[in-house]
Amino acid sequence: MLASQSASRRTFISSVLFLLSGYLSQQTLLVSAQQNPFDCHVSFDNGTNFDLTSLSGEHGITRTRETPPSKMTDEVRFDLCNDLGRKEGVTEEDQCGQGTRVCMTMTNQKGSEGDRVIAVIPLAVSSSLQPETTILTSPNKGLNLIFHGSGYPKTNPISQFFNLTIYCDTQLQEPTFVQYNGEQLKVEWRAPAGCEVQGDNGNGDSDKEGEEGGGGKKDEKVGSGIGWFFLLLLLVFVAYFILGAYHNYSTYGATGADLIPHRDFWREVPYVLRDIASHLCSALRPSPRNGYIAV
Ligand SMILES: *[C@@H]1O[C@H](CO)[C@@H](O)[C@H](O)[C@H]1NC(C)=O
Ligand SMILES: *[C@@H]1O[C@H](CO)[C@@H](O)[C@H](O)[C@H]1NC(C)=O
Repeated sequence: MLASQSASRRTFISSVLFLLSGYLSQQTLLVSAQQNPFDCHVSFDNGTNFDLTSLSGEHGITRTRETPPSKMTDEVRFDLCNDLGRKEGVTEEDQCGQGTRVCMTMTNQKGSEGDRVIAVIPLAVSSSLQPETTILTSPNKGLNLIFHGSGYPKTNPISQFFNLTIYCDTQLQEPTFVQYNGEQLKVEWRAPAGCEVQGDNGNGDSDKEGEEGGGGKKDEKVGSGIGWFFLLLLLVFVAYFILGAYHNYSTYGATGADLIPHRDFWREVPYVLRDIASHLCSALRPSPRNGYIAV
């Protein structure tokens, strides 16, 4: 009688713990899947911030070079806050792969012959972005941003990087191609986003959140959501023990270890955990029979 009661209680605790661990691992996955190496909110320790979310989205710059007897068109596509999308109507080999933030293509045109893409250069790639930000004060105010990309070309690769200078201006202008030297692409841009915002270490921009919906905001919410969840769980536990101990003391005059509420229950928890661990192990270890059937 007692044994069966305790067994069903164990099953109950196991299912609760299973649900809980499922929820937590799902949240963890969500956070890691959404991690953005640069979400366009730049903050320095001294409270100087830049909000580049107004520059989010895809932008393009094109320049043409006369290289007789042909003509070369360099096209740069970039998105500061997120990965670039695929370009419609262009084959895979003529564009940068997934997870690229800055991509430059060089296209050669000669007379009536068809255009030929001769180089596709991933200047900034999310997986190796390592963004560097520097405040510029003189002669012009602004922000310098460095993004890192992949090696190019394939033989004797040179690490590519994107060097963007955003100058503080009252009006948003078009970004301009300054130079590309085989390693570094320099781009300049005049924009209000290049002006610093004084804030209390990034908390001040919460009222601007609605504007552009920059990618990173959501991650922070999920992250702090987990924090709140744990805090709440902790508070509930603390309250439970305090109230339980008080109840045991005032009702039964309990002292010492007898103060612990539902002592029998907590005594079983280590065994339940052991049960779960052995369940998991047997589930992960395929039985030899299954292994042979699945040919
Ligand atoms: C904040 O720090 C940055 C870099 O550490 C510096 O360039 C800038 O001048 C500082 N701003 C203020 C207002 O102190
Ligand atoms: C990026 O460009 C700026 C402006 O031309 C230059 O001063 C700076 O040295 C460059 N950064 C790197 C890492 O080359």
